[in-house]
Amino acid sequence: MAVAHLTLDPAFVIAPVDRRLFGSFVEHMGRCVYTGIFEPGHPAADDDGLRGDVLELVRELGVSTVRYPGGNFVSGYRWEDGVGPRGDRPRRLDLAWRALESNAFGLNEFMRWAALAGAEPMMAVNLGTRGVEAAAELVEYCNLPDGTAAADLRRKHGVARPHDVRLWCLGNEMDGPWQIGSLTAREYGRLAARAGHAMRRVDPSIELVACGSSNSGMPTFGAWEATVLEEAYDQVDYISLHTYYDPEKHDEASFRASAVDLDGFIDDVVATADHVRAKLRRSKRIKLSLDEWNVWYQSRFTEPEDRDIEELPALIEDDYDETDAMVVGNLLISMLRHADRLAIGCQAQLVNVIAPIRTEPGGRAWRQTIFHPFAHTARLARGTVLRPALTAPAMTTGRYGEVPAVDAVATHDEQTGDLTVFVVNRGTEPVPLDLDLRAFPRHRLARHHTLTGETSPAAAPGSQILLPPVSWHALCLTPEES
Ligand code: AHR
Repeated sequence: MAVAHLTLDPAFVIAPVDRRLFGSFVEHMGRCVYTGIFEPGHPAADDDGLRGDVLELVRELGVSTVRYPGGNFVSGYRWEDGVGPRGDRPRRLDLAWRALESNAFGLNEFMRWAALAGAEPMMAVNLGTRGVEAAAELVEYCNLPDGTAAADLRRKHGVARPHDVRLWCLGNEMDGPWQIGSLTAREYGRLAARAGHAMRRVDPSIELVACGSSNSGMPTFGAWEATVLEEAYDQVDYISLHTYYDPEKHDEASFRASAVDLDGFIDDVVATADHVRAKLRRSKRIKLSLDEWNVWYQSRFTEPEDRDIEELPALIEDDYDETDAMVVGNLLISMLRHADRLAIGCQAQLVNVIAPIRTEPGGRAWRQTIFHPFAHTARLARGTVLRPALTAPAMTTGRYGEVPAVDAVATHDEQTGDLTVFVVNRGTEPVPLDLDLRAFPRHRLARHHTLTGETSPAAAPGSQILLPPVSWHALCLTPEES
């Protein structure tokens, strides 16, 4: 049996672990909000309709940051519709998903929910049907204490303290022909720069994310990022990446090796952003925000045009298996490996819509398989990310050729001394893993988490750990008392 060897050294530092990598996404889409996080009258809901059973799972998942309110939804959304007395809120046709939007849940409900979830809000502004003025007024509503029309409106709505939102997305997937109000790269770059400029006049401390390509398969990928950054480099802090992996689109081995694609995608966007930096002779480096990523059985998706208008369509409620969970765990490994430039990650989405958490209206809430690698990684990745030296047997894929069957990354908490190694075997053969810990001579394997639970480590120091086919692992190593 071919063996994998993994060597760890505290000197192989990539970057500190940024908690914002463990973000998620709540969009007004399908049943993510309504009957997902918000369901007045549900036995577990509070007086505002926020489901306590879902909040408990969200806290267990460990999400740090939640993007809201879209997604494609934001490109036709008037944020003013979702604030103020519920009885006065309009019922609208959501153009993105051709769904009826009651506006019973809006900005202030989301902020209260995010606080209860212990998550930082990340707001998106509408640059599809709206623009500079509405974006700046939204920042004013959220972040100014009082004394201006929008801030005083928030106070009138019963929210005295500003929400103090740091992270703002300048639109969503503005290159996509499906996007309401899609633009060319030049048009979008200019609009993003103007909107960002005005938003920063309201609150200079906010951080801004420009839209990158909707995915790396877009015909304008690369050129889009370069043009947008040429126009908006000085205004923005991040460029976004979106990527979804469809288990049914390519051969199965390629799906299992999806993280190879994510590695290349991130590297390409870093190279493009740095190319623009050189061209503009700037010192600032643009960071990356992977603010939509997940496994999505996209080939099963029915386009909005082909559906009837409904109030609560059950959209893309994918059921996940263990292979999907391994892929999600591997994507998180890839994200940690790029922690020197990738600062934000939002798994899309949080509840019901391609989500780790599912709910029944009026009934229970439960964890999907993809919940587990996310929750473990968010909880265990602490301190700094270490790059392991890894040799592994190869596997053959249709899209990427020969790739290593085993992939891994590690984190090292300098304060506690704890080391965690996140490993996947994405091949179909079992692989014994040799851990070389010569730089950590006092560390012993204390816990071994898998997708199906926690096992007591059978491994004595220096022995091998068997990685079954298509499996995800978190190996927790702690220093022995001397
Ligand atoms: O997450 C579902 C949708 O996928 C989002 O609304 C959109 O941004 C992306 O295309």
